[in-house]
Amino acid sequence: MVCVEEYAVRVLVTGGAGYIGSHVVRSLQGSGHTVAVLDDFSTGSRRRVGADVPVEDGSLLDTAFVEASLRRLSADAVVHIAAKKAVEESVADPLFYYRENVAGMQSVLEAMVSAGTRRLLFSSSAAVYGASATSPVTETSPTDPSSPYGWTKLMCEQMIRDVSLAHGLSWSALRYFNVAGAADPTLADRGESNLIPKVFRAISSGVRPQIYGDTYPTPDGSCLRDYIHVNDVADAHATVLEHMENADLCTVYNIGTGTGTSVFDVMTAVRLVTGVDFECDICPPRPGDPADVVADPAKIRAELGWASQYDLGSAVESAWKAWSDAPS
Ligand code: WQD
Repeated sequence: MVCVEEYAVRVLVTGGAGYIGSHVVRSLQGSGHTVAVLDDFSTGSRRRVGADVPVEDGSLLDTAFVEASLRRLSADAVVHIAAKKAVEESVADPLFYYRENVAGMQSVLEAMVSAGTRRLLFSSSAAVYGASATSPVTETSPTDPSSPYGWTKLMCEQMIRDVSLAHGLSWSALRYFNVAGAADPTLADRGESNLIPKVFRAISSGVRPQIYGDTYPTPDGSCLRDYIHVNDVADAHATVLEHMENADLCTVYNIGTGTGTSVFDVMTAVRLVTGVDFECDICPPRPGDPADVVADPAKIRAELGWASQYDLGSAVESAWKAWSDAPS
């Protein structure tokens, strides 16, 4: 007889070979759950997936494949992380983003309904709040995405709501703020699109990092963001899943620290951690960048007792260690 609190959930993590997905896989395994990964390895890496984790190698858009994967695992839950997330790329190629992120979501939902898997954690984003966001941002703040990427995340949230009402899903959408750091070098964020890895790439190549604008209405003129350690993001998934074992959820949570950090502050943290004393180039503001997007994380703390544990320095330090040690 397995006590409820010891019951391991069988979870399929889509995008589990990616930067955030691989951290979530480790966190769920650490919480005693049985995890499998579904990934097409278009951006994910097998190096990020432990040898003990079954891998379903294929496309989200192949609904029959996704359903068969759910049945092979006898999955109780899906953590849907697989998506394209480069904001500028989404502006240049919106149809690609609507296919991958929105049609991909539809395929996952269809497969879940067919397979009878009724718990869903969805990787959403602070990008749903857009340029009009007023910090601190709560889950009831207006949503007004300023990129196709942000719109795909908001559309997916609505799809989940509608399917949940029709088919009785238990779900939570986790709106990640700016994710940084790494648990170890194999899980480093090697992407080109976010600030911290871009700064690492610049200083590792002897190039001056760029600051997109220093005339914003913020204390030092550069944009404020809520940088949250990927370990905290992964831990939040385990907490939400644990709560789903005993009660249905149908809700959205901000996953942030509640602390705003400016781009200048990030550069200072990078100098401190790396020991590299670099100058930056001040460039024109990037179109669509809101001045200030910082989470109010009170809802998940009040309802689930979860709060972030790591600060910016530890995120930058772990990211730099992973960047420096990771295989190229
Ligand atoms: C952070 C800050 C830039 C690069 C993204 C996406 C999405 C989401 C959150 C998951 C901004 C500034 C950047 C550079 C700079 N993640 N910057 N020089 O745009 O806040 O949001 O992350 O859903 O990926 O919405 O993140 O890392 O691109 O920028 O000055 O070379 O750094 O202006 O203020 P962003 P970012």
